[in-house]
Amino acid sequence: MSGNIIIKNAAQVVTCKGFKAKQGREMSDLGIIENGAVIIRDGIVKEVGLSHEILDDFDTHGFTVMDAANKAVLPGFVDSHTHFVFGGYRADEFAWRLGGESYMEIMNRGGGIANTVRATRKASKDELARLGLKRLDSMLSFGVTTVEGKSGYGLDHDTEIKQLEVMKRLDGIHPVDIIPSFLGAHAVPPEFKGRSDEFIDLIIRMLPEIVEGKLAEFCDVFCEKNVFSVDQSQRLFLKAKALGLKLKIHADEMVQLGGSELAAKVGAVSADHLLKASDRGIINMARAGVVATLLPLTAFGLKEEFARGRHMIDQGCAVALATDLNPGSCFSESIPLVFALACLYMDLTPEEALTALTINGAAAIGRAHTIGSIDKGKLGDLVILEFPSYRFIPYHIGVNTVETVIKRGEIVFTKSLAFCDS
Ligand code: NIG
Ligand code: FE
Repeated sequence: MSGNIIIKNAAQVVTCKGFKAKQGREMSDLGIIENGAVIIRDGIVKEVGLSHEILDDFDTHGFTVMDAANKAVLPGFVDSHTHFVFGGYRADEFAWRLGGESYMEIMNRGGGIANTVRATRKASKDELARLGLKRLDSMLSFGVTTVEGKSGYGLDHDTEIKQLEVMKRLDGIHPVDIIPSFLGAHAVPPEFKGRSDEFIDLIIRMLPEIVEGKLAEFCDVFCEKNVFSVDQSQRLFLKAKALGLKLKIHADEMVQLGGSELAAKVGAVSADHLLKASDRGIINMARAGVVATLLPLTAFGLKEEFARGRHMIDQGCAVALATDLNPGSCFSESIPLVFALACLYMDLTPEEALTALTINGAAAIGRAHTIGSIDKGKLGDLVILEFPSYRFIPYHIGVNTVETVIKRGEIVFTKSLAFCDS
């Protein structure tokens, strides 16, 4: 799948230019081109610049031409932290939390992740794929062109592999690109209760098969009090890294355990959640170039205090934003709500939030060289808004402002084809 398309006369082309994570102040630099155009040939960005400069002498034969007057053109969003392949739902738990029970209390009495594990073990591959497809469609409609997806609802060999294989299948049939992460260490399953070290051993034994089968690019762990310790996480990471997997970590979400420090120490690509990250952990992540991936929808849904996004950027971190779509702590794939919450409750500017959802999201999945910005040579993954500026995204709170999504130069989602002149 790849196409030839020209977008012209855009009120603004927000390039988010760059080929690596943006840290600290760099996050404000969006590289905006007013009255801009983008030329995509064979699915790759061939040219980006002022409409009259790049199009005056250009032969548009063989291209679909779209006029984006009064519209903003952005890179496709990268949702770099999701758990979108799962069976069953947990609407009751949401209601229990409203009644005062905490996420960890529900988990410790056998609900939470274990609940989804039961449903995911039972579900067939076809059923998981059907549900996954529906969720991908919805993510695409919000402008997401690449998504990271985690296993972690199997917690046994066969179901973990099943989740990863479903992602591989979906990647082949859906326009959204899927980057898979192995999160076998997501929780201790009931059959290993009180034996978390042995369970980590089992997860470590699965690593070679996952690497050989190219079933995951990342190894992730839920490093949390009463789940997996910093030592256990490090043990898993050292094996995973030696086998060539890149690392991600659910860190310092409920308590300050030291996950961010560990991320910096082992050279993780990203550390995620970070609601309780320490000052030292933040400085270490900034120095080590670990992308701090913040998930404001989860903090919002759990009624927790938000991560210190403003502080992290001021300390020089590269911050990414993602949805954390999952059936428990955050059943939402709403990019506009992520954007608005990041601005309203973590004090990110709209410029920083956009960087966090594009080039820094790409960096969080090791893809800053190929996606996440509108730069020559990158994939032609674009979003066209129905408004003239990216600033409408947080301003139109929680409402989808995406009009058209282009993946590798092809229109894969649109609210209306009426303005498309091919
Ligand atoms: O990222 N924190 C751990 N894991 C997921 C939630 C998983 C679940 O509740 O099903 C998260 O929030
Ligand atoms: Fe998560």
